[in-house]
Amino acid sequence: MDWGIQNRLSRIIKPDTGRTVMLAVDHGYFLGPTHRLEKVYATVEPLMGYADALMLTRGILRSSIPAKSSVPIVLRVSGGSSIIGEDLSNETIMTSMEDAVRLNVSAVALSIFVGSDYEAQTLENLAILVDMAQEYSIPVLAVTAVGKELEKRDSRFLALSCRIAAEFGASLVKTYYCDEFEKVVESCPVPVVIAGGPKLETELDAFKMAHDAIQMGAVGVDMGRNIWQNDHPVGMIKGVRAVVHENASPEEAYEIFASYKVS
Ligand code: R5P
Repeated sequence: MDWGIQNRLSRIIKPDTGRTVMLAVDHGYFLGPTHRLEKVYATVEPLMGYADALMLTRGILRSSIPAKSSVPIVLRVSGGSSIIGEDLSNETIMTSMEDAVRLNVSAVALSIFVGSDYEAQTLENLAILVDMAQEYSIPVLAVTAVGKELEKRDSRFLALSCRIAAEFGASLVKTYYCDEFEKVVESCPVPVVIAGGPKLETELDAFKMAHDAIQMGAVGVDMGRNIWQNDHPVGMIKGVRAVVHENASPEEAYEIFASYKVS
């Protein structure tokens, strides 16, 4: 792997633990003003010190994140559909690599929609993005299965999607936790992180999901709503960090969260 790609990846996946807690705030690219992300910086600012990377679009980066901040950026570059449109999978590449370079990003991110009407188009997007990103030694994060695809949250579908993403040259894959998650990780030759998905019923559920994913081989999380839609987001991200970087149990993570709740 090229030195530049390795170096950028090591900004995101911390070399001392080999793991990462990425904070996802890119939801507006198809959901618009998502609950608790209406004013992005108000939500993100207290969490920045605990995030190993921030995933977002260039519009939010330029408009809402101070350029002096040192958190590594994972730039969402695919899009073109919305939650009220016909098909969420109808995405293209929306940002040039030159602009990604200007923004000094550590990785670019794009969704693929395996099994959808736009499967071939989104896989071609990935192939094109990998070619573009290789020119500048920028890693590509492929995101598998969002929106309606979540109905297919099973290991056969997610292993298929993650493996295809790796075959097309993704350096890192983001997917969803599922039963038999180890099968997803084992058959994917590049590191896997999990998204959190919609806010779970309890904090313990979120810590348990992160814990189980890590124990089954994920290198971390790229989590959004289960952190910043919580009333105590700093407690949540600190609990998730303990699970990811210190192998804390879900209960230990909950204790960290609970101590934040009362303070
Ligand atoms: C979806 O494609 C977006 O990229 C989000 O970044 C992703 O779903 C992670 O956020 P959450 O943990 O809220 O699902």
